[in-house]
Amino acid sequence: MSYEHIEPPEEGTKIELTDEETGELSVPNDPVIPIIHGDGIGKDVGPAAQKVLDAAAEATGRQINWMEVYAGQSARDIYDENLPDETVEAIREHRVAIKGPLTTPVGAGFRSLNVALRQTLDLFANVRPTYYLDGVPSPMKAPEEMDMVTFRENTEDVYAGIEWEAGTEDVEKVREFVEEEMGFDSTMHDGPIGIGIKPITEFASKRLVREAIDYAIENDRDTVTLVHKGNIMKFTEGQFGDWGMEVAEEEYDDEEVFAAPDSLWEEQDEVDIPEDAVMVEERLADAMLQWMQLRTDEFDVLAMPNLNGDYLSDAAGAQIGGLGVAPGANFGAGRCLAEPVHGSAPKRAGQNQANPSALMLSGRLMFEYMGWEDAGTLIRDAVEKTIDDGTVTYDLARQREDAEKVSTTEYAEKVVENIEKLS
Ligand code: NAI
Repeated sequence: MSYEHIEPPEEGTKIELTDEETGELSVPNDPVIPIIHGDGIGKDVGPAAQKVLDAAAEATGRQINWMEVYAGQSARDIYDENLPDETVEAIREHRVAIKGPLTTPVGAGFRSLNVALRQTLDLFANVRPTYYLDGVPSPMKAPEEMDMVTFRENTEDVYAGIEWEAGTEDVEKVREFVEEEMGFDSTMHDGPIGIGIKPITEFASKRLVREAIDYAIENDRDTVTLVHKGNIMKFTEGQFGDWGMEVAEEEYDDEEVFAAPDSLWEEQDEVDIPEDAVMVEERLADAMLQWMQLRTDEFDVLAMPNLNGDYLSDAAGAQIGGLGVAPGANFGAGRCLAEPVHGSAPKRAGQNQANPSALMLSGRLMFEYMGWEDAGTLIRDAVEKTIDDGTVTYDLARQREDAEKVSTTEYAEKVVENIEKLS
């Protein structure tokens, strides 16, 4: 494909899909990888993370050929639009990409670019591993107990964008339909109203839960917890739980996956689970926020509808030291778009202060997806060593008296040095 403003690298080979059914990729040693630096602190952490990913690739005998693509402010500057088609196409065509944060102004008329990217590319699972790195200050007494991976459904729920603004003709049409045709006539107050719809489908719920269970099996995890608010939203969240349990019950051998009966209401301590089986259980979202803090080490893999996943993964991230070190990635069939949990932190933008660890560790996830586990482990170990040695950015420095505060670029240089030492 030829591009209007994107400059493809002179060298490099495209990652290709080799098996449509399993999503298996053929990854060369010199892949072309699109990157969006992003808005705000994205301009600081993007180039810093890129250097670290380059160093880890090189240390393991490979070479990344970056292809910068644009979204958000950088796209407005070049194309006069937020999300150019060629950015989406470049990511679609190259299958594996990484992005920094993009700003979404609050208010009407501006749809989240992140949501648009995830939906357009059908990146249906947002995966966030939450694990503790030595030396990271945390508010918890035993932060090392956290070693959890959240799977957040990425394409529907209240993020589908099916909503109507107060005062419009459309919202009044919807109100009339709900009240008069559907018979909910006493549930809405008079006067202006905003209405949104929360779609949860069997297809999207099941493929997300399947992905989480497969991950648990492949990575020797003990439990998959389906987190929802099905006691209140019975036909959306509750249905997510039912469909998820159906996957556990019907699609796997009993020896491999054990669907815990009545786990929403009963303790599972007494249940006889086959040895080595992954237990799939349900928890209510509000209770789960509590259990995550009080019984941190009991949870392994969580699977959730979109909004629960957003809240829960941020809360989990706080337990291991906050947004500066929280990585993530979006996955679809044969696709990966890695991105940190954090946003564009406009107050810190362009000051060479932000912590690039989250983006570096998102790169680790991307590498793992590409089959480059060795390079991914190097990134993790080098980031951990850098922080543990007491070289940190402002966000961690203010909670650690013994540490030296460095800039984003100095921090990245230190991580690169540690990659060289560790490899
Ligand atoms: P935010 O994550 O940008 O910032 C929250 C707080 O965390 C700030 O105090 C900031 O200083 C700190 N922080 C975040 N990342 C950091 C890092 N790497 N190093 C050091 N400190 C860091 O969240 P906020 O303020 O809610 O959102 C700002 C903008 O980012 C909004 O426009 C929002 O829509 C967007 N956003 C984009 C995301 C994405 O692109 N995936 C995700 C979340 C928010």
